[in-house]
Amino acid sequence: MGGGPVPEGEGGWQPVAPSPVAFDGLPVPHELTEDEIQQLVRDFAAAAERALAAGFRVVEIHGAHGYLINSFLSPAANHRTDSYGGSWENRLRFPLQVVDAVRAVWPDDLPVLFRTSATDWLTENPEDPREGWTGDDTVRLAKELTAHGVDLLDVSTGGLVRDARISVGPGYQVPFAEQVRRATGIPTSAVGLILEPAQAEEIVASGQADAVMLGRELLRDPHWAHHAAEALGAEPRWPDPYGYAVVRRRTAKA
Ligand SMILES: Cc1cc2nc3c(=O)[nH]c(=O)nc-3n(C[C@H](O)[C@H](O)[C@H](O)COP(=O)(O)O)c2cc1C
Repeated sequence: MGGGPVPEGEGGWQPVAPSPVAFDGLPVPHELTEDEIQQLVRDFAAAAERALAAGFRVVEIHGAHGYLINSFLSPAANHRTDSYGGSWENRLRFPLQVVDAVRAVWPDDLPVLFRTSATDWLTENPEDPREGWTGDDTVRLAKELTAHGVDLLDVSTGGLVRDARISVGPGYQVPFAEQVRRATGIPTSAVGLILEPAQAEEIVASGQADAVMLGRELLRDPHWAHHAAEALGAEPRWPDPYGYAVVRRRTAKA
């Protein structure tokens, strides 16, 4: 129990990253060598192959929230001076190699999604002097990802820098999805404090995003999509075993 890192001697492991930059007091990661980076590219492809063999029909590459791909993209975490760091093109090299490797093993007629952190929330705060990843960077990235076969950009934010100041509120990340969609026409999804059916409907209907994704509301109400469809006047198809209960509820209401 705890929430801290598990020491290596107790079954934990040393994290890896583009540069030895620790996340807020956690262990300093090992700076990946180029051979290790190439192995990771193969590992992502192997993971996609396993997902396909297991029956999944959509695969999403996690490029957000301070995880490895996000760490390569952002100048706040990537301080490398080789071909995987420094310039914009170099910081994109590993993420795009992963996309290419996954796309190569994933059937052409099945979608590849990419989750991105549209901002580190550093440049949004004018008082924060740190260099970070911005919404404009995300627009540029989106174009590259589409050219490499990504079908939808799942636009989240943050997770790379723990002390970044974030303005959280209903739909607070939607403007970032909207920015990418309006600037590029690339299909996007929005996520983050989307709670109400009408709110979700408005995001899609107004063209801010092509889809919405939900986290915590689905934990609170696993049948949120069905309830939302009913609230918006549609007749959702409930799973067959639920039919009896649904009919009973409608009868009781009538
Ligand atoms: C308990 C919990 C675990 C999460 N784990 C992940 C994760 O592993 N990967 C991920 O991309 N997002 C993860 N998230 C973030 C959610 O996917 C989602 O983006 C975030 O909660 C905002 O959406 P929401 O307001 O609808 O919950 C997690 C969120 C919660 C609450």
